Amino acid sequence: MINKAKNILSNNSYGNFTVPNKKLYPFQWNWDSLLTALGISSYDLDRSILEIETLFESQWDDGMIPHIIFHKKNNDYFPGESEWTSSTKIPTSCITQPPISGTVLWYILYNNINDINTKKVLDLADKIFKNLKWFEDYRDLNNKGLISTTHPWESGRDNSVEWDGPLKNILVPENLRKYSRKDLRQIAGDERPTTEDYDKYITIVDFGEKYKWDKNEMFFNSPYNVVDIGIQFMYIKSLKDLLKIYNKLGRIDMNDELNRMINKYENGCDLLWNNKLQCYTSYDVKEDKFIDEITHASFLCFYAEIYNKNLDKIIIDQFKSYISSNDFLVPSLSIKHPKYDSKKYWRGPIWCIINLFIYIGFLKIDSEIADSISKSTIKLIENDDFFEYFDSTNGKGCGCKNFSWTASIYIILKNKNNFRLNI
Ligand code: GLC
Repeated sequence: MINKAKNILSNNSYGNFTVPNKKLYPFQWNWDSLLTALGISSYDLDRSILEIETLFESQWDDGMIPHIIFHKKNNDYFPGESEWTSSTKIPTSCITQPPISGTVLWYILYNNINDINTKKVLDLADKIFKNLKWFEDYRDLNNKGLISTTHPWESGRDNSVEWDGPLKNILVPENLRKYSRKDLRQIAGDERPTTEDYDKYITIVDFGEKYKWDKNEMFFNSPYNVVDIGIQFMYIKSLKDLLKIYNKLGRIDMNDELNRMINKYENGCDLLWNNKLQCYTSYDVKEDKFIDEITHASFLCFYAEIYNKNLDKIIIDQFKSYISSNDFLVPSLSIKHPKYDSKKYWRGPIWCIINLFIYIGFLKIDSEIADSISKSTIKLIENDDFFEYFDSTNGKGCGCKNFSWTASIYIILKNKNNFRLNI
């Protein structure tokens, strides 16, 4: 299985970057690529650093790392290169994805401290800092310590039930341009977002294009502004891990600034404690109200190393109840939720990427839970194949096969005695 995983990663590689899957997702995707680099680092350190360097070559002048980088022409994906007006040398999309770069680079550095090229790491660290600062400067214009997303695709969890409420308020223009979805040519519609979802996704893209992705327009006037609890936690974790990178390599000049940001965004999390649901949840900034939904992302607080002696036990109990009717871990939505759908993308299926992060979080607070998540993730893959995601009722693979991050995560979890994540 390990060899098969490595083969998938090399087959999905174009030399200096890896695509999630050559047919369904034929470009470089931001967080997919980073996750891929993490797995590759355990057997080909140089190639994994090159993966991250290639991703950061697409960094916008303002600091943003786009969610898709269109290195090569390919008409099999919608929305492709022609749908976005980026001003970069290599065309990119104009929105971002969860910022996990600080974390990925930290794990790679820590596990390869004697062999790694530290100059390259420090060059990347400075770019990562610029990217994390971009989130503060562009996505927290209310200065509250909360990171906003301006499109559901930015969350990386495209059609989560969390976004249903905010999307309801988006009016799709009657004359919305005709577009043709290419995903449905390859994957059954019941495993993908609906047409209604897509109309709204495109409406937001059209808004962004109209205003040239201006930061104030996107934040204050676009039809969608949501704090994704997942991004909030991943952002904080990346800030903390970036600080560890600098310190490990003797750069203490960043301490004050990074500690300031960490405090600010940790304080922001207090605003995301949803008293009614007794859990952390996402927040609709436009409506100024909580999104009353608990999903797998709510349990990333421990991954972000956010602890609170009054809340930790409540959250662990919530997690136990969230998974209590499931044979496989961790569903993107609880099986008891009225909208649960075992195979519909981010509305019930299991995704290895979020599993890995929840697992990392639990390592520090409840190793039994961590172990069961790791075992379940490995079992899902071994029972079927390296699928994009898995049906959370019967464990069958969904979406496309030969998926890069599934292969990468398998390698990481199987190798966890040598590749340390509990650091
Ligand atoms: C889908 C997923 C997103 C992922 C992308 C490429 O859009 O929702 O998280 O990055 O596919 O795999």
